[in-house]
Amino acid sequence: MGFPANGSADKQLKFLIYGRTGWIGGLLGKLCESQGIQYHYGSGRLENRNSLEADIAAVNPSHVFNAAGVTGRPNVDWCESHKVETIRTNVVGTLTLADVCREKGLILINYATGCIFEYDANHPLGSGIGFKEEDTPNFTGSFYSKTKAMVEDLLKNYENVCTLRVRMPISSDLSNPRNFITKITRYEKVVNIPNSMTILDELLPISIEMAKRNLTGIWNFTNPGVVSHNEILEMYREHIDPTFTWKNFTLEEQAKVIVAPRSNNELDATKLKNEFPEMLSIKDSLIKYVFEPNKKTAALHI
Ligand SMILES: NC(=O)c1ccc[n+]([C@@H]2O[C@H](COP(=O)([O-])OP(=O)(O)OC[C@H]3O[C@@H](n4cnc5c(N)ncnc54)[C@H](OP(=O)(O)O)[C@@H]3O)[C@@H](O)[C@H]2O)c1
Repeated sequence: MGFPANGSADKQLKFLIYGRTGWIGGLLGKLCESQGIQYHYGSGRLENRNSLEADIAAVNPSHVFNAAGVTGRPNVDWCESHKVETIRTNVVGTLTLADVCREKGLILINYATGCIFEYDANHPLGSGIGFKEEDTPNFTGSFYSKTKAMVEDLLKNYENVCTLRVRMPISSDLSNPRNFITKITRYEKVVNIPNSMTILDELLPISIEMAKRNLTGIWNFTNPGVVSHNEILEMYREHIDPTFTWKNFTLEEQAKVIVAPRSNNELDATKLKNEFPEMLSIKDSLIKYVFEPNKKTAALHI
């Protein structure tokens, strides 16, 4: 018998969302509003089981979404010096939420990360061979990624969990400092490596649809294909700021200004594409959901 045991397929949609003050959690609430879906934000802390049980009792949700987690400020290097805090939320917290949801017969849509892989001999850069859902993570270079990979492995035992491997999320809000495009336009120097990425404007609605379909298991939650830093910056120059310039540096030079290594990889998005054939390739999605809408806005302001 598939999950959920409590038959949420027949229940009216009502989402309980963790991550009210966060980037992805905030966007999810707005999407529910625009789609007329009932939702409540959880007020509990993930590592506090009683508080999660109280939220579920108060809301009686059809599905739970976890967009809560620590990613580090200003970046994941924070996790290297805050290991216990990172474990508390990302390991103890995420596992506790999954466990409570299972006990209550609820599907948990978990915004996880794809930054648990790096290009290797079997998946070389530029080959078009991406990591699949069943592949074992091979990147543990940062504490953040290492613990996320451990949790992903443990969550495989929870048949109520839908793990979405998000990567380098991008949204149409180019003023948001969390946006990958905003980040790389503000860096003094950027590396130039093709990567799989997640266009939130296109993929977050897909995650809501995944809940409606009661999908579970691991999903590479990225648009098909890869795009490099320079390709994005060229699009930025073409659509947003013709005077924009940038400087590249090598991975070795980058290593001198960061604490922990970063993951670079291609994820194979075939599973998601088969479920949602209308999903655009990363470059087409960037144009449609990010650069074209911002171009129109820029034109209106002239
Ligand atoms: N942004 C990225 O680059 C990226 C990439 C891949 C995957 N992801 C994953 O996607 C998820 C959401 O990312 P995001 O960028 O939206 O994060 P974000 O903007 O940093 O927001 C994190 C949210 O988690 C909440 N939170 C943190 N610790 C909590 C705890 N112990 N209990 C309850 N809530 C807690 C925060 O609330 P408070 O302020 O109240 O603590 C905040 O609302 C994370 O798990 C992250 O690993 C993000």
